[in-house]
Amino acid sequence: MFETDRRLLRRTVRPEDAAAVRELVGATGFFSPAEINVAEELVLDRLRLGAASGYEFIFAEQDDRLNGYACFGEIPCTSRRYDLYWLAVEQEVRGQGLGRQLLAAAENDIRSMGGAHVYAETSSRDQYLPTRRFYEACGYDNIARLADFYAAGDDKVVYRKIL
Ligand SMILES: CC(C)(COP(=O)(O)OP(=O)(O)OC[C@H]1O[C@@H](n2cnc3c(N)ncnc32)[C@H](O)[C@@H]1OP(=O)(O)O)[C@@H](O)C(=O)NCCC(=O)NCCS
Repeated sequence: MFETDRRLLRRTVRPEDAAAVRELVGATGFFSPAEINVAEELVLDRLRLGAASGYEFIFAEQDDRLNGYACFGEIPCTSRRYDLYWLAVEQEVRGQGLGRQLLAAAENDIRSMGGAHVYAETSSRDQYLPTRRFYEACGYDNIARLADFYAAGDDKVVYRKIL
């Protein structure tokens, strides 16, 4: 389904997405090797288990190249609360609205699945200031901060949007 005049958003996960996600997430320069492994594992879980994995994906492509993606799912043992597990846009196309588009598409899907709250977590490090600005620009409230969560001096910052 075309959701803009430029980019195809795709929700079906294909085997080749595992490597494409690994490359995209790795190239952002934002994530550790362990985090990159997790990003790929979530794709593999989805391929293996389908919807029972709890992971939903939206891929943005142009000319068969993966430009960005979102991964989200219902938080187990909650009522209508969803987590945005991953959101990444390749460096070359950042600042052009793709992140906003992917997030809006994820929120629409979450709404249609009955979701009421969306949570996104990120780091307090300076490198993630653009990420925090992005969530704020997209209507997310900074609702919590867990000191030294990721490492000493690296807090977890929690954002939430009520749909
Ligand atoms: C965060 C990320 C997904 C944003 O995607 P993007 O396509 O660059 O963002 P958009 O172009 O849709 O920006 C939407 C809004 O966010 C804000 N924003 C985006 N990048 C920003 C930056 N570098 N500095 C300040 N604000 C920024 C702007 O207000 C922008 O709105 P505008 O275009 O109307 O001014 C992308 O930068 C990314 O992949 N970063 C690295 C990985 C990451 O941090 N992922 C988040 C999970 S931890």
